[in-house]
Amino acid sequence: MNEMGQLAVIVASVRKDRVGPMVAHWFLSQVQARTGAAVDVIDLADLDLPDDLGGGGDTEVFAKRIDRADAIVVVSPEYNRGYPGALKTAIDSVLPEWRAKPIGFVSYGGISGGLRAVEQLRLVFAELHAVTVQAAVSLPHVWDLFDEDGHLRQPDHPGSAAATLLRQLAWWARALREAKVQRPYDG
Ligand SMILES: Cc1cc2nc3c(=O)[nH]c(=O)nc-3n(C[C@H](O)[C@H](O)[C@H](O)COP(=O)(O)O)c2cc1C
Repeated sequence: MNEMGQLAVIVASVRKDRVGPMVAHWFLSQVQARTGAAVDVIDLADLDLPDDLGGGGDTEVFAKRIDRADAIVVVSPEYNRGYPGALKTAIDSVLPEWRAKPIGFVSYGGISGGLRAVEQLRLVFAELHAVTVQAAVSLPHVWDLFDEDGHLRQPDHPGSAAATLLRQLAWWARALREAKVQRPYDG
């Protein structure tokens, strides 16, 4: 059974030499192996989301893709103890679409494994009435973790972290989907 429903995976880094797509690719393999979720990969590098937050560009398309999702995973690096500016623009570009949605994180970086970026994201998503799940995947020293083919050298620990994240996310996705059918979230 597909408890999760529709899962959106947001690739948050947009740098030219980013490793974000490689991390996302690994996580998508975990989703495929462990859930029956239908996945929409939203790569922010492919979207035009205006900085002035005035709509236009791909804002409407992005809003629709977030609206359609039953659950969302943000794949984010850490930059200077924070998360990418492109991700903040994306988050701020839409509003009601985040409400009562479960959000999980796959973070990566240097020593922190992106955890400090995730702590900030939890505060931001709380403001948007989204529900961030407790478990997260964190990949420290990301450049040492993957071989040249993009496979994790030691997949056991990240794999079990991904399993926990996906289990929690699926529970919340189903619970919130069913609750919203009974009674729309009114804040
Ligand atoms: C501008 C910049 C700032 C960074 N700051 C941190 C940091 O504060 N903590 C950390 O653990 N890693 C930090 N890193 C390392 C990145 O998280 C790491 O290079 C990661 O691969 C970046 O993701 P990306 O390649 O998908 O852009 C920083 C990297 C850059 C480019």
